[in-house]
Amino acid sequence: MKFEPPHDLRGRTLLVGICGGIAAYKCAGVVSALRQAGADVHVIMTDAAQRFVTPLTFQALSNNPVHTDMFGEGTAWEIAHIGLVRKTDALVVLGATANTLAKLAYGIADNLLTTCVLATRKPVLVAAAMNTQMLDASATQENLRTLQERGVLFVEPGSGFLACGETGEGRLANEHDILSAIELVVRRAHELEGERVLITSGPTREFIDPSRFLSNPSSGLMGLALATEARGRGAQVTVVSGPTSLRAPADVTVVSVTTAREMHAAVMEHLPGTALFIGAAAVADFRPAEYSDTKIKKSGAGRTLVLEPNPDIIADVSAHRPPGCFVAGFAAETDEIERRAREKLTAKRLDCVVVNRIDIGGGAFGARDNEVTILWGSDGREAVTRAPKSVVAAALLDRIQQLRRHA
Ligand code: C5P
Repeated sequence: MKFEPPHDLRGRTLLVGICGGIAAYKCAGVVSALRQAGADVHVIMTDAAQRFVTPLTFQALSNNPVHTDMFGEGTAWEIAHIGLVRKTDALVVLGATANTLAKLAYGIADNLLTTCVLATRKPVLVAAAMNTQMLDASATQENLRTLQERGVLFVEPGSGFLACGETGEGRLANEHDILSAIELVVRRAHELEGERVLITSGPTREFIDPSRFLSNPSSGLMGLALATEARGRGAQVTVVSGPTSLRAPADVTVVSVTTAREMHAAVMEHLPGTALFIGAAAVADFRPAEYSDTKIKKSGAGRTLVLEPNPDIIADVSAHRPPGCFVAGFAAETDEIERRAREKLTAKRLDCVVVNRIDIGGGAFGARDNEVTILWGSDGREAVTRAPKSVVAAALLDRIQQLRRHA
């Protein structure tokens, strides 16, 4: 028999949503295991879930009242969904159906479970369960992707016999995998508590005249994904961001800048007390040596633009870092990418560098996905396969935390 270490969720509060699929009966086993692992479990059931298993089953297994109705909390009604999400460490949606996933992806809040997910900033973990065809449907796949991009975590469904008589993917993941994922999620949710994280993000603009500038296609998505992830792990996050059309996550302090010199000044101002600095901005290395207050007129002749170097923000951060501050940089390259990135790691005295390939047309710049290699020390290396930037951000923070622990 395979040895499975016992899970430890003592002192953790979990809000567990049960959806209306046949997997609801298996969710009863998961809730029981969560309680045995020491968690205080509060179950919410959708209407459809109650057609498969009664609330009484979950009440007995969780040893807590089961929530089924947004409007029926009786005398103790304290805006039920807000009260429930406030005290929980994480939200777990078990046996998520295609229907609930679609509602979550679109922000529909028509029952207590979907309302709680929409109302929370706590980590959300989903274990889906449905018929293979429903899982494969483009609509479901798009919804899964949307949720993943927003930072929702998933326990991969398993394969095997399905209640509909077919064999394929879509079974609820096994209990051990679900409990391990929950353990990881709640541990991560606290790991940067009390720490300050400073991130640079987006492009900079270097103006030639009031109507023209030098810049690059960076969207700021990678920096914001990192900010969201760091905040999700309990950090106090400040993002110094160049121009972007993206909205920063709640609870993140955003300092908006335009030029590299402004970014440099803002970073140096916010650096004291920083435990982790991540330079994800695509900072313009050069700026026009001269700026014209009035629009430069077209004369028919060519023009030569003289450029001068901008300050290297991350090199300055590295040289003047507060005690114990970990410094991570990015390296976007078109050729000899790992060799150049290793040079940057050494020259700027970084603790790790994230290598991005720039493909023709901009590549990782402005894209929804990213594929990176993380380099550290003399030969440390981790390849992160192509995934939404939120997933890459989580992998990077996992690696950074591991490096910090062993520093
Ligand atoms: O040398 P290179 O510009 O390729 O280094 C990339 C790394 O340095 C990124 O982390 C980027 O945010 C940072 N950088 C910076 N200030 C600059 C140029 C780059 O902080 N002027």
